[in-house]
Formats: sequence, C-alpha cells, structure tokens
Amino acid sequence: MAEHQPGRDCPLCPRLVSFREMQRAAHPDWHNAPVPSFGDLNARLLIVGLAPGLKGANCTGRPFTGDYAGDLLYATLLKFGYAQGRYDERPDDGLTLRDCRITNAVRCVPPENKPLPIEQSACRPFLVNEIAAMPKLKAIVALGLVSHNAVLSTLGERKAAFPFKHAALHEVSKGLLVADSYHCSRYNTNTGRLTTEMFENVFERLSERLGR
Ligand code: URA
Repeated sequence: MAEHQPGRDCPLCPRLVSFREMQRAAHPDWHNAPVPSFGDLNARLLIVGLAPGLKGANCTGRPFTGDYAGDLLYATLLKFGYAQGRYDERPDDGLTLRDCRITNAVRCVPPENKPLPIEQSACRPFLVNEIAAMPKLKAIVALGLVSHNAVLSTLGERKAAFPFKHAALHEVSKGLLVADSYHCSRYNTNTGRLTTEMFENVFERLSERLGR
C-alpha cells in the first residue's frame, strides 16, 4: 500500500524542515515531526484539519490534541458519538474515535499556522493515499477553505463546481459527501464566525446522511 503517513524526518518542505529542527533543539521533549492521523482506517468519516498547532498537535503528536481548536472538535465528536471516553488534551487520555478518523491537509507544523501553497501541494500525496486507504469512507469534513481545496484537489474535483460554504454538504463523485465547516480555530470562535451551534449543525446534518 502507498504511504499515507510521512516519515519522522520527511524532507519535502525545506521551510518546515528548518522550523522542525529549530523546535527539536528548543523542545526535545515535544513530538516535533509530522503528526500521524488518528482513528481507524475502516471509519466512514474523515475529518481534515489544516495543520498541527505548534504547542498542540506538534507537541503531543495527536491531531488537534492540546490545540485550542481541539476543545470544540473533540467535545462535538463526543456529543455526536464519533468519539468515546474523555478528551484531556493528552494522547494517552484514553479517548477513542468511533467510525471517524482525523488528519491534516499539512502534516507538519507551519510557522504562524500558515502553510504555503507549495507545502500544501507537497503534502497532498499523503492525503491522496490516506483516502485511498479508507475502504469504507463515505464522508469527509473539511475544516476551513484550505482543507476544502485540498480535499477537492485530492479527489480530482473541480473547485468551481463545489464552492466552500459553511455547513454545505457537497455530493462529489464515487458517492462521497464533502461537508464544509469554518475551521474551529480560536480566531473563528472568538470572533463569532463559528459558534458551537454552527459547528454542531455540520455534524447533525452529516449524521442524518450517514444514518446514525
Ligand atoms: N490542530 C490540528 O491538528 N489541526 C488543525 O487544523 C488545528 C489544530
């Protein structure tokens, strides 16, 4: 099977490699490597975030774990039955995902949370392989515009045919659904662009379609 996870010392993005080396020197106890996806490859739902946060997923090694964005994401997954246990901002908190997997469009932490377009493209083969490795996949939640575009490119869909819109459910080819959401970032929740209700609405609509 093709690789869906970059190696610890993935060399593809020089800027991200330098940033990683700087973080390894400053924080040798952090994960400081591409963050592996979390959850079962047999899940029907895949959530695609943007990239690990510096002191969150890049430190803990699990997507959204320790990141501000993880608070709303994991609370919502627990509420809708896509997660079980207790989220405690640690990869050993015992939380498990149910019928759900989480990955990022870019697997390495970018400076200032902003991956460059060339880095988004360099990381895309891992998303392609990730999706190919999920035999039961029915739906993808794209968190934010960058993830939405990464998912459409990965699937070979035309962006003009499926414009990003919060809570939209796009029926793309092969019977797949792509659900859009504003990213559950601190900026979006603090400014009110995304409320808990709006975020939950995405999962409510998706759950109906997945017959849950
Ligand atoms: N943490 C992640 O792993 N991904 C995001 O998109 C944001 C925070």
